[in-house]
Amino acid sequence: MELTAATMELSSLLQRFSEPETLKMAKLGRELRAKGIDIIDLSLGEPDFDTPTHIKEAAKKAIDDNWSHYTPVSGYPELREAVCIKLKRDNNLDYKAENIVVSTGAKQSLANVILAVVDAGDEVIIPAPFWVTYSELVKIAGGIPVIVTTAMQNSYKITPQELQDAITEKSKLFLFSSPCNPSGTVYSKEELEALAEVFYKHPDILIISDEIYEYINFVGKHESIAQFAELKDRVIIVNGLSKGFAMTGYRLGYIAAHPVVAKGCEKIQGQFTSGANSIAQRAAITALTTDLKPSLDMTKEFERRRKRVMQLLSEIPGWECAEPAGAFYVFPKVDSYFGKSNGQETIENADDLCMYLLNTANVSTVTGRAFGTPDCIRLSFANSMEKIEIAYERIKKALAKLK
Ligand SMILES: Cc1ncc(COP(=O)(O)O)c(C=O)c1O
Repeated sequence: MELTAATMELSSLLQRFSEPETLKMAKLGRELRAKGIDIIDLSLGEPDFDTPTHIKEAAKKAIDDNWSHYTPVSGYPELREAVCIKLKRDNNLDYKAENIVVSTGAKQSLANVILAVVDAGDEVIIPAPFWVTYSELVKIAGGIPVIVTTAMQNSYKITPQELQDAITEKSKLFLFSSPCNPSGTVYSKEELEALAEVFYKHPDILIISDEIYEYINFVGKHESIAQFAELKDRVIIVNGLSKGFAMTGYRLGYIAAHPVVAKGCEKIQGQFTSGANSIAQRAAITALTTDLKPSLDMTKEFERRRKRVMQLLSEIPGWECAEPAGAFYVFPKVDSYFGKSNGQETIENADDLCMYLLNTANVSTVTGRAFGTPDCIRLSFANSMEKIEIAYERIKKALAKLK
């Protein structure tokens, strides 16, 4: 029997949000690579390192020890304890297991929190540039993303005044990452305190502090906005194992939040996915409570590459870039190329430039539009120094053809 038109009419929810641009670019890159084209991937957001050996050993042991059953929805008690130990050790923050919900990646943690706290019509303030998924999750929840454009001259940090100006009686949530993906911005204690002062005047607003790049910080100590005692109960820390421990495929993230929010997240997760993968959880206990040296060594290598990438960027005419203080991306302003042409195609915007770089330089990057900053593009330095050198050489050549 033939399918009716109504059969393939998918839900209106799908019209409300876009697929992640980062994954789209990676997919395009893979397709070209499958055709035999040598694509250098500077689009994806994952460390190009293997998971540290002692964490892999813990995962193997978990299989042998038969950690194979359904897990508690909010995570094994030992893992939630381990998260509390980590939060005390690294951040001097006191939490109990009841504050912690473990999820299948920080992305799920964010989805849980947003679905748990945002109602239709609620406003969620997001400083731009922001991680692609934030605005889309808010739209899925029926909320309204209120994007606050920040200035490159201020290292893409939202100022207390900008925050104050964005707040209305509908504001429900503020959502940001430090270190920031894509800009690499890291907020200092003083800068966070100045934002906290604004939140004290608006006691109905919750704050999601995405700290997944915590360990990949080139400017010293990581600071969490949860450190301010008067604000702590309104802060939901989101963190995970993907970046700092090179465990993207394990899919493990967590939140630390007030028990009311934690319970809400547990309820949502109980219907969507149940508890996170058992093997990944056992490995995470080891990761969070043992030697951080492999993570710190990884950060040193990222720092070395950052230095080189800043040199390489300085050789590209017309690109302007603030030096990232954390994470593993550069986010140059590239709009001086808009309107230029190689004789066949004209670059109208950052999307066009990314496609041009993919097809002409065979380097995949991500358009700044996806991060709410359409005059920039994002290039990852989570790739080998050798590949990075070649990629920037190719980019330089491809850009030189644009007049
Ligand atoms: C800022 C930020 N938050 C959260 C995530 C989600 O990480 P995961 O779901 O792998 O834990 C990412 C991944 O790219 C990210 O860049």
